[in-house]
Amino acid sequence: MSVSNQSELEDKIKELKKKKKAVILAHYYQRGAIQDVADYIGDSLALAQIASGLKDVEIIVLCGVHFMGETAKVLCPDKKVLIPDMEAGCSLADSCPADKFAEFIAAHPDHTVISYVNTSLGVKALTDVLVTSGNARKIVESFPKDAKLIFGPDRNLGDYINRITGREMLLWDGACHVHEQFSGEKLMELKRSHPEAKVLVHPECKRPLQMMADVVGSTAVLLKYAKESDAREFIVVTESGILHQMQKECPDKTFIPAPPEENGCGCKECNYMKLNTLEKVYRCLEEESPEIVVDEELARKALRPIQRMLELS
Ligand code: 13P
Ligand code: SF4
Repeated sequence: MSVSNQSELEDKIKELKKKKKAVILAHYYQRGAIQDVADYIGDSLALAQIASGLKDVEIIVLCGVHFMGETAKVLCPDKKVLIPDMEAGCSLADSCPADKFAEFIAAHPDHTVISYVNTSLGVKALTDVLVTSGNARKIVESFPKDAKLIFGPDRNLGDYINRITGREMLLWDGACHVHEQFSGEKLMELKRSHPEAKVLVHPECKRPLQMMADVVGSTAVLLKYAKESDAREFIVVTESGILHQMQKECPDKTFIPAPPEENGCGCKECNYMKLNTLEKVYRCLEEESPEIVVDEELARKALRPIQRMLELS
């Protein structure tokens, strides 16, 4: 069946959701059209919390990247979890292969392992407690100040948490290809031309960008700050999908996407997040595919650190 018109697609998706007892969970980096048909929109933490609390639902369509779908599946083993495009991966998760992370842990046997949720199930299974950018500080601070901690895989988030908590966690040397590309120099220029603007920075960005921020936080934290602030202008240093919700919830405010290093395109997109389209959301609901399938043993091991994270959040 060929469905081209956006409102027709939206109607079909609504119909299918009802018929199949399905809900759509979307991350803030998804295309605006997907955010607009979602039942819930959130950061990684909210998506996990929402998935864990879903009742009377048979299908979850996770509009985000693969690790988000896996987390939802581990939390909801009895539900069918679909993802619009199975190729929607994550460079940060890829920067930490489970076998290499296992060697790193084995080299530091007396350490507690804290991992960012942007990881494969294999890495989660090796982890004591997971965090997101929304709860990392709180969870790290729940350990004694002198606790020996490993933090993986994001070196920038790890560096940020070390800096604000006074810890010296051992960091895995991984990063997100999107957030690493924001340029400190270009942000400085932008700040000069918009002196009144508040600067919103995701902690996956490098330290010089974090140091220029009025607020450093997860996508949900940045959105909340923008809503509650009296400022009229904001420079947004994260994936540009978040601007859709910011603009929608704050129509009178101006949001300026920070440019990346290599060109002056004015925004930065995650090519993985953007693989999902409204058409693919419709198709995956109709065909109930692609479906997230997890290794049972890994899922059993990964559930513990995910649950621990939810308890500590
Ligand atoms: P948030 O948890 O802040 O939404 O971030 C997810 C992510 O993938 C950031 O790149
Ligand atoms: Fe992964 Fe970076 Fe894309 Fe987030 S923005 S999903 S960390 S590649």
